[in-house]
Amino acid sequence: MPNLAIIGGQWGDEGKGKVVDLLAPRFDIVARFQGGPNAGHTVVFDGQTFALHHVPSGIFHDGVLSVIGNGLLVDPERLIREIDELTSRGVPVAERLRISLAAHVILPLHRELDEAIEARWGTGAIGTTKRGIGPAAGAKAQRFGVRVADLGRPDGIRSAISRLLASGFDGWMRELGVAPPDPDEVAGQAASWWSSLAPMCAGTTALMHDALDDGRSILFEGAQGTLLDLEQGTYPFVTSSNTTTAGIAVGLGVPPRAVSTSIGVFKAYVTRVGGGPFPTEIEGAEGERLREAGSEYGTTTGRPRRCGWFDAVAARHAVRLNGLDGLAVTKFDILTGLDLVRICVAYELDGRRLDRVPEAARDYDRLVPVYEDLPGWSEPIGDARSVHELPAAARRVLDRIAVLCGCPVALVSVGPDRRASLFPEGVLKIGAIPDARPGSAP
Ligand code: IMP
Repeated sequence: MPNLAIIGGQWGDEGKGKVVDLLAPRFDIVARFQGGPNAGHTVVFDGQTFALHHVPSGIFHDGVLSVIGNGLLVDPERLIREIDELTSRGVPVAERLRISLAAHVILPLHRELDEAIEARWGTGAIGTTKRGIGPAAGAKAQRFGVRVADLGRPDGIRSAISRLLASGFDGWMRELGVAPPDPDEVAGQAASWWSSLAPMCAGTTALMHDALDDGRSILFEGAQGTLLDLEQGTYPFVTSSNTTTAGIAVGLGVPPRAVSTSIGVFKAYVTRVGGGPFPTEIEGAEGERLREAGSEYGTTTGRPRRCGWFDAVAARHAVRLNGLDGLAVTKFDILTGLDLVRICVAYELDGRRLDRVPEAARDYDRLVPVYEDLPGWSEPIGDARSVHELPAAARRVLDRIAVLCGCPVALVSVGPDRRASLFPEGVLKIGAIPDARPGSAP
């Protein structure tokens, strides 16, 4: 099985967790390369629902090693809670998980700063998940971050916190109403986190190199989505990591050519949580209908997600940025019952037609979507097990998405369960997916 990247094609919450869980048994390793506890990957099987935040979605499969790469921001408190919960539900996490010693750590102070900064920005706030992502990523870039390996060295923690305070952070924190940390107290917390996490910590770059040398197959699991990428997304309304395939190399220490195939996950409509531009957003009752039908509430924060029509211009941009070989279209069943399915095929900006997303974020707010309307369908499709079983109108929507994005549809999800997954022939060469797999999980 060639190495495969699964990447969010929109603003996150596209259903990557399900896709990764579905494909994971065909790989030796499932590796996360960016993001952190801001992610919320939902996996449903055998009537059970799991929400993952740091832990890769391959964790439910025996014989698959899950790797948290150096590119993640790890919140030890939350990670320990996540591991404990999975373990209590019968998932042998300790055997299957390896955490990079080089990953940076989110400390309580980063969470408090995230919250305080958002409060200061008021209506102009990013709408972050308040998990401390921005401040921890900032500390990493400013070179006073704390890494997982440091947790086992109380002196290292003390000196990292002292460096931070000596850089003028204490004044800034006080100004924001956040109490500066006591280096000894943080060192004490770190020691307790380390005693829980140490058995799972490893040099994951070397682990990945050995895996590549040995020809072991790797699934690279993205978090958030392409339009939240720090460089290429709708800045400043983005997260603080590289969510595209480009992030894989730096977030795991592998060469870019380690990725052979890339699949982008796209909802059949679009959602976004937090602030920022959203050209195809649907206001009012129609947006509300999608939100309710699709249960569009955040896995991590419970916030209602903004809903809109499929944006083929932004999707085509994501195909190009990531070099996608195929699209995984999720939540396709949620479109059932609509009279018309709208797809944005271009934008208008100040009366000019645009076929690409604008480079300048300030132009986003003035974009007017140009829609193509396709007839909907009323038949439930959740039990379909092949694309040929879908109503003709539904197949036509998939065909248009593929043509407009310039990329074939490799997978269609028609329900949350693993079995509700259709594989158009010939795109994803992964062999047959059994109709009802027992799941090697708990
Ligand atoms: P942060 O990553 O918490 O700093 O949030 C920055 C932006 O990314 C906000 O708009 C969040 O709502 C969004 N975001 C972060 N993680 C996710 C995710 O997993 N799904 C969807 N949006 C996310």
